[in-house]
Amino acid sequence: MAPNMASVFLPLLAATGFALAAKFSPSSVSRATSGFGNTLPNKFIVEVDDASNIPGKRALETRSAHEIVYESLRKRDLGFKVDKEFNSPGLFLGSVLTLDTHVRMACQDAAKVLDIPGVKAIRPVTLIPAPKYLHVVTGPDDPQIPPDSESTHILTGVDKLHAQGLFGKGIKIGIIDTGIDYTNPFLGGAFGPGNKVIDGFDFVGDAYGECCKHPSRTVRCSRCFVGTNTPVPDSDPLDQCNGHGTHVGGIIGADPVNPFNISGVASQASINAYRVFGCSGSVSDDVLLEALLQGVKDGNNILTMSLGGPDGWTEGTTSVVSSRIAASGRIVTIAAGNDGAKGSWYTSGPGNGINAISVASLDNTVIPLQNATVHGVVHDPITYFDALPLPVNGTLPLFATSNDTTVVDDACDPLPDDTPDLSGFVVLVRRGTCTFVQKLTNIAAKGGNVTLIYDNGSGFQDISVDNFTAVLIQAPDGEFLAQQFAAGAPVAISFPQSGASFQFPDPDGGLISSFTSYGPTNDFFFKPAVAAPGGNILSTFPVPLGSFAVLSGTSMATPFMAGVSALLFEARGTSAETGKIARSLFESTAQRVASSHTDGDPLQTVTQQGAGLVDAFRAIHAEVLVSPTELITNDTAHFRGVQTFTVKNTGKARKTFKLTHIPAGTAITVQPDSIFPADGPVPIDATAATVSFSPKSFTVNPGQTQTVTVSITPPKGLDAKTFPVFSGFIELANGNERFQVTYLGLANSLKNMPVVDNTNVFFGVNLPTMVDPEGNFFSTPENFTFVDDDFPSVLLRLNFGTSTLRFDLVDSNIKLNTTLNTREVEETETHVFERSVFSFPHNPGQGTFAKVKILGTLFEADFQPRNSDQDDGTGFNELSIPTPQFANGTTIPNGSYRILLRALKVTGDPTKEEDFESWLSPVLGFGVPS
Ligand SMILES: *[C@@H]1O[C@H](CO)[C@@H](O)[C@H](O)[C@H]1NC(C)=O
Ligand SMILES: *[C@@H]1O[C@H](CO)[C@@H](O)[C@H](O)[C@H]1NC(C)=O
Ligand SMILES: *[C@@H]1O[C@H](CO)[C@@H](O)[C@H](O)[C@H]1NC(C)=O
Ligand SMILES: *[C@@H]1O[C@H](CO)[C@@H](O)[C@H](O)[C@H]1NC(C)=O
Ligand SMILES: *[C@@H]1O[C@H](CO)[C@@H](O)[C@H](O)[C@H]1NC(C)=O
Ligand SMILES: *[C@@H]1O[C@H](CO)[C@@H](O)[C@H](O)[C@H]1NC(C)=O
Repeated sequence: MAPNMASVFLPLLAATGFALAAKFSPSSVSRATSGFGNTLPNKFIVEVDDASNIPGKRALETRSAHEIVYESLRKRDLGFKVDKEFNSPGLFLGSVLTLDTHVRMACQDAAKVLDIPGVKAIRPVTLIPAPKYLHVVTGPDDPQIPPDSESTHILTGVDKLHAQGLFGKGIKIGIIDTGIDYTNPFLGGAFGPGNKVIDGFDFVGDAYGECCKHPSRTVRCSRCFVGTNTPVPDSDPLDQCNGHGTHVGGIIGADPVNPFNISGVASQASINAYRVFGCSGSVSDDVLLEALLQGVKDGNNILTMSLGGPDGWTEGTTSVVSSRIAASGRIVTIAAGNDGAKGSWYTSGPGNGINAISVASLDNTVIPLQNATVHGVVHDPITYFDALPLPVNGTLPLFATSNDTTVVDDACDPLPDDTPDLSGFVVLVRRGTCTFVQKLTNIAAKGGNVTLIYDNGSGFQDISVDNFTAVLIQAPDGEFLAQQFAAGAPVAISFPQSGASFQFPDPDGGLISSFTSYGPTNDFFFKPAVAAPGGNILSTFPVPLGSFAVLSGTSMATPFMAGVSALLFEARGTSAETGKIARSLFESTAQRVASSHTDGDPLQTVTQQGAGLVDAFRAIHAEVLVSPTELITNDTAHFRGVQTFTVKNTGKARKTFKLTHIPAGTAITVQPDSIFPADGPVPIDATAATVSFSPKSFTVNPGQTQTVTVSITPPKGLDAKTFPVFSGFIELANGNERFQVTYLGLANSLKNMPVVDNTNVFFGVNLPTMVDPEGNFFSTPENFTFVDDDFPSVLLRLNFGTSTLRFDLVDSNIKLNTTLNTREVEETETHVFERSVFSFPHNPGQGTFAKVKILGTLFEADFQPRNSDQDDGTGFNELSIPTPQFANGTTIPNGSYRILLRALKVTGDPTKEEDFESWLSPVLGFGVPS
């Protein structure tokens, strides 16, 4: 459901080229002095090879691979500090290094670090934002509230597994999250061996991440990065301040005897809780890496992470390591992300890990809510958005702050002087214009302490009202009450403290939650993999925060899959083989999900539902193994239209399968007549691929395997410039027994996708653009002294992800045909500069890319996600040049230069200049005073 935020997002404007209101205000450009996107300045995760693979290493040498690499770094005069070392052979060997920004002149080319024998990869340390959710219910336990029907368990067949006595006994699940409140009696009440939460670790402490609430604005957090916000680990993962991990923990493991009669999917599994978030704020992925490796060391069968950040590629450190862990036979479940509103090609890491199970969310079919009773006039009970009764006794008369049911800014200003003392009333106010808290503050100023807020068409949903006693009701109910009040009727309201619980039918119930992030990844991998219930989920919460809460998110769907995975391991044994086939079992037995409740509408695109809603019962008892369950045709330039899969009969009876093609909606991922990705809900088109297979039916005996050849032809008649992603299913039916294979393809070449936004839609000027110290955009020559913040920045938007984004300094007279601009060359006087952000540009190699004469590289960022169209810190990137210094730390002499920006098109060849989009800045005079 849509978060109820005060920020306003304009609809995307059409790029007609003139007379446009810019989408973002230039003042939203803060001048970051370090870092890029969500990466931390000067901090890197260096992955090293196993020492035995390092060439030139002498036999019997006792130094570790880490030490060999450090020595090579020191030889190059590169100052650094080792923050952390990782030593998990087969999964990850390496270190987190902070480079010394004060080393300059002496320092050799930092790019050469990649050439050091033993260095396998260098990746920046990136920030993963705090889990986002809306907290609906807290309050006293009420034994009178009727039981939740455990609709989520029924939807997924978990109830049938419970009936067979499967509860995850003997299975260990590592939860990497905000910690857990194990003092909640329904999570065992205690910590340590013999309890539900058997062990764990707090990698960070309460205060961690606090000053990093704006991960993309590194300028505001730079002090955290250099040490004032270092993690304070301890052995106790208790969380009584955040709650996210406790909710996750309850979805996996809540004990069934509780006031709501909910239960965890695997209530007898053992939990290890790894706390990687403080009470608020984000986590850097080196901490996450530590937790993942600890989770493996502790022998967890399953690792689950309800976290992530938009990333778009399979290459981030934690994505890669999660994938390796999954490939070794453990099950790794990771949230697909809650960025559905931002459209396709916006997947989250670490959920992007190729072998991990990325989990989409399905809205629960009912929402547990409460009814209020209307007195004085005849009206049905009014349902309000809270799972627990409001703590209000007696029957209180109603007072409406406005008699006008169309008022847009009701109670946004202080209430009039003639307002009575509202303390004995239920106050009625209309939603809109200002925040709920502002309205409630104005009402409280007149003594009002119980408020019904009626919807204005924004949607019936959970709202946050701080500690006020206030709830949302639906528009027709509120309008009725306001009209009765205006007519002078003696309306009064009471809030029954028991017996008024109502299973409100969710109109979107049974559909993929609109907030689920859309795939595919930019390298065209299949994300998300499957869906589980994650919208409107009642689960445990920290005791000080109310013990129970209803939350929504792929964060809630992910532990559900972890719980299902525990039942799978319990039923089939914990061998690595079971872990390795888990995703195939889940995908081949999943339930396909519609795109709407309207008959005839296509199935939801696979880019949001994955293979569909998990059917735990069928997955665990499947007597057929289909492999692979994902057929990816890739883009038209790398098209693999003919593929095979195998069907193995692992049961005791002969099976005869008939094959059918069942298309899903084709996602129109880019807006027509525009370069911009379409926002969610991503429009889908019923035009489908043509799929044929051979054989069309077959019989397979117990123990035998049948191979099926599939031929997939992209849909015809769609506008290729909308980058249609087609998808669907091949169903195998044997009587009532059904399995499926899921396919995904693109009806265009990814290389045609415009990467760098060169329109004026977002800032009113053509991008990319230079930004001066006052925050003004400029496109004519300017001089910079690098004294007192007098330095330039480049402002750009990535319309699509890129695996290589390079900023090089070139001669001001360079003759170059850039793809995105052709500005006039102009001369200015000469000067000098220096800079404090290291990066590790790749050696450009031999191709046409290398032939472009550069003076040095300023910065390279690899595997960048695209920007969104929202001004929430994900809408654009800026690269500032605070010091006249190349990426390798060497000083740039005073002079006049241009910045050459190059972004590799997806699937482009990094050695070919023609595979990059490019842009040249105006002439920049660098003149550090002597
Ligand atoms: C709650 O209110 C709804 C809407 O008026 C009504 O349909 C339902 O029967 C009520 N349930 C209870 C338990 O009061
Ligand atoms: C409501 O009444 C009950 C019983 O008289 C009392 O225990 C409770 O504190 C009252 N609640 C409020 C909010 O006044
Ligand atoms: C509202 O204020 C009245 C009068 O002070 C008090 O009796 C009542 O308990 C309060 N109700 C709530 C829900 O705080
Ligand atoms: C809400 O909390 C604030 C700060 O803790 C307190 O000052 C205020 O009185 C509380 N308001 C209500 C309605 O309880
Ligand atoms: C709204 O209607 C009530 C009842 O008729 C009346 O007492 C009150 O003055 C009206 N308020 C306004 C602002 O007109
Ligand atoms: C799609 O093709 C590109 C280009 O060859 C490749 O990099 C990528 O890995 C492919 N994706 C999949 C899922 O095979």
